[in-house]
Amino acid sequence: MKFFVDTANVDEIRRINEMGLCDGVTTNPTLVSREKRDFEEVIKEICSIVDGPVSAEVTGIEADEMVKEAREIAKWADNIVIKIPMTEEGLKAINILSKEGIKTNCTLIFSAAQGLLAMKSGATYISPFLGRIDDMGEHGRDLINDLRIIIDNYGFESEIIAASVRNIAHVEESAIDGAHIATIPGTLFPKLWSHVLTDKGIQDFLNDWEAYKKELGR
Ligand code: G3P
Repeated sequence: MKFFVDTANVDEIRRINEMGLCDGVTTNPTLVSREKRDFEEVIKEICSIVDGPVSAEVTGIEADEMVKEAREIAKWADNIVIKIPMTEEGLKAINILSKEGIKTNCTLIFSAAQGLLAMKSGATYISPFLGRIDDMGEHGRDLINDLRIIIDNYGFESEIIAASVRNIAHVEESAIDGAHIATIPGTLFPKLWSHVLTDKGIQDFLNDWEAYKKELGR
């Protein structure tokens, strides 16, 4: 399973990358706006740090606007993926871009039908939003399972990016259910590698080691 880092913050990306845990990055207009930096500059910097796909989102509403933006953004680096929202216009844009060999990530997917349409239009990646589905009192996990079944039934090449990942269970369940990728906020990673019993275990070992050295007079 691959991990993408869901952030536009280069310090977070560097930190996760140092552990070999960053297979790519996803951004969106909200994440980019938090950095208070020029869009092109920050995306180019991320692309230079990461040896993997970097999603940058278009903001146009009509297909021709999306395609125009996408063609420009795609020139910024070799590892750019264009993030396109799941709309009728978005599907048109994905179809055009996929035929031009430009990689796309169809975002804001909340149903199996939306995912299926994105796959058929040629999306390289599809991004179901787990956390936002859970927020509605539904089960994001079910959508990951359904999308994986559809991909396996028909051999679609699109890869599932479990997105809107908010907690440890989202990461674990996405891995168990066969999402190809989980895109994880930088702030969630420490929760993934930490465990209270690991901390306690380390402290117990150190205490015992100190007692042992004292006993031997070293
Ligand atoms: O990957 C999509 C993500 O950035 C949205 O997350 O927490 O705003 O639903 P969230």
